[in-house]
Amino acid sequence: MPDNRLISPEWMEQEDHTESSIRPLHLNDYIGQDKVKENIRIFVLAAKERDESLDHVLLSGPPGLGKTTLASIVANEIGKPIRKTSGPAIERPGDLAAILTNLEPGEVLFIDEIHRLNRTVEEIMYPAMEDYVIDIVIGKGPAARTLRLDLPPFTLIGATTRPGLLSSPLRDRFGINCRLDYYDEEDLRQIIIRAAGILNISIDRDGAAEIARRSRGTPRVANRLLKRVRDYAMVKADDRISKKVADQALQMLEIDAWGLDMMDRMILDAIIHKFNGGPVGLETLAASISEEHDTLTDVYEPYLLKMGLIQKTPRGRVATERAYQHLGISYSRPAESNNLFSWNEQ
Ligand SMILES: Nc1ncnc2c1ncn2[C@@H]1O[C@H](COP(=O)(O)OP(=O)(O)OP(=O)(O)O)[C@@H](O)[C@H]1O
Ligand SMILES: [Mg+2]
Repeated sequence: MPDNRLISPEWMEQEDHTESSIRPLHLNDYIGQDKVKENIRIFVLAAKERDESLDHVLLSGPPGLGKTTLASIVANEIGKPIRKTSGPAIERPGDLAAILTNLEPGEVLFIDEIHRLNRTVEEIMYPAMEDYVIDIVIGKGPAARTLRLDLPPFTLIGATTRPGLLSSPLRDRFGINCRLDYYDEEDLRQIIIRAAGILNISIDRDGAAEIARRSRGTPRVANRLLKRVRDYAMVKADDRISKKVADQALQMLEIDAWGLDMMDRMILDAIIHKFNGGPVGLETLAASISEEHDTLTDVYEPYLLKMGLIQKTPRGRVATERAYQHLGISYSRPAESNNLFSWNEQ
């Protein structure tokens, strides 16, 4: 029997009720990411037409952009159940073997944080993905032998915030590779209007646009801010969210006009004041603000890079002139020697 802790469909659904009610269930309700949606639509239709299981899908992108949501949508669209687990939860090859041998034909297996699968588990995955077989080693030493087990055809959907950490043999075995990008303001505005409709929140167009502008391109942030602004509106503004109410509520939450929160500003402030504008190594920066290295790289850094507030250089992170301007700090151009090394996007 598979271990429930590992594969129960409810495994990661510890979110509150409102969270699950606003999660879109079908591709038509999934707003934005048009290219990704179009690809998925075509591949799903083709697989259905041929009556084959859908090729394996890799979803990558920063946190909160809708990878888990999209995985469930894909399963819905192909009309198959989905089993959810995550890379770190599968500790031993036997865990993965138990999951794989218990799948129903055509079923979707979702592995979140797939970059965190350990090597020995990953190696079981290669033949499973390619030929729907697994090789199990029985016994130890010279008496050990390998047993090959057939698996039902299945679709693996892997999600990762760090595609660069995936080994290339694993990455190459995904036939469909979708990269989610930050949402533009109009898409976020629609996401907010949709969620407000489901949650019975009264909001006008400009109110939604104001929240959208300050949601760091991320639906999860947009939905969270919507709920906080609703609380504010309930107490202070007759339950209605206008641009003015949204602005006041977001100011109270210390979310600035660009959507930066306290932590973003603390990071910029640390680079500028503690490290003289940089360059500063990631480890040092993380330690200086008492934050986890991974949270810094996964959650904060991508948005600060996107907004052009920091740059990555071979010697570490640097605050840009824009960051100084945004924080209202006067900027003096770095000495000539600092500009000599090549800037790269590694
Ligand atoms: N395209 C979209 N349209 C509408 N709502 C969306 C969309 N994408 C995400 N959401 C909403 O944003 C929330 C966060 O999405 P989700 O949990 O799928 O992100 P994720 O990429 O899996 O994040 P993480 O990397 O942290 O696991 C969901 O609850 C969902 O309601
Ligand atoms: Mg997720």
